Amino acid sequence: MTLQTLRAALAEAEAGEYAVGAFNVSSIDQAIAVLDAAAAERSPVIVQSIAGMSAYDDESRWWTRLRGLVEEYNEVPVVLHLDHGRTYDDCVRAIGHGFTSVMIDASRVAGTDRPASFAENVALTRRVIEVATPAGVSVEGELGTIGGAEAGVAGVVEEIVFADPDQAVEFVAQTGVDALAVAVGTSHGSVKFTDEAGGQRLRLELIAEIKDRLPETFLVLHGSSSVPADAVAVINAHGGGVRPSYGISPEQKAEGIAAGIRKINQGTDSHLAWSAALRRFLQENTAIVEPSEQLRPAISGFREMVAQRMREFGSAGRA
Ligand code: 13P
Repeated sequence: MTLQTLRAALAEAEAGEYAVGAFNVSSIDQAIAVLDAAAAERSPVIVQSIAGMSAYDDESRWWTRLRGLVEEYNEVPVVLHLDHGRTYDDCVRAIGHGFTSVMIDASRVAGTDRPASFAENVALTRRVIEVATPAGVSVEGELGTIGGAEAGVAGVVEEIVFADPDQAVEFVAQTGVDALAVAVGTSHGSVKFTDEAGGQRLRLELIAEIKDRLPETFLVLHGSSSVPADAVAVINAHGGGVRPSYGISPEQKAEGIAAGIRKINQGTDSHLAWSAALRRFLQENTAIVEPSEQLRPAISGFREMVAQRMREFGSAGRA
């Protein structure tokens, strides 16, 4: 059994000055891709799932299978983490299914786009800590809000509220979270910046400032995908319609790690790799209907993307 809490995995990362990748999965095939990458790279890994986001209707069966799969991989340390728990109930269900870590994203009021007040965020985060701590489960909180895409992109209304170092100190004092997602200008999804210079608007200096004042809290970077242009080009050359944009460069992530980031979340880049491989295969092999043949390149594309990130984050070879 190599299941670890987030706190234990990130304490190792702190000592080794690297970051552990937290990869979103929404099917067993994707989880196998992530775990195979970790085993091949001898890397600690965080497998993360979002409540309500999977290929299956039955969340309980999905999470039970996911936990069972993770237990089979005993070559590397694995954290099973709930990403963006929106409610107390999301976190309780994940803990009940054997997750070793949960994120309570109380930075927005559940079911709305309204940023939560500091007091609302603290109150919900504390409730989750009260149920997670006795169960031996780590908790990640969020301060500031990470946008759904770059503010200003047509149709995108989510605004980024940057993390405030004074509030971060107060938030950790009042909640006792193990890890803190800090909003420094990254955003979720495949459209981040519409101009090449977009990444220069990141406020990476906030990471060092917060780390300096909270040396015992592990900092997390969300919305970290690089949105590789070659993957977008393959998708669009094979019938896709992904809007080309600019993501967070590997160099910027390295800068974040040097400033104190210990967990880096990635969903989009793995999804782009999967979609590119699948679309190419289907268009080049129009007569093949055997699902295993269709899935094989998608799983392999996903796995290679994850393995590349493990090497970039410095976690490869640490397990
Ligand atoms: P990306 O969409 O940039 O991959 O971010 C994923 C994420 O932060 C999940 O919490």
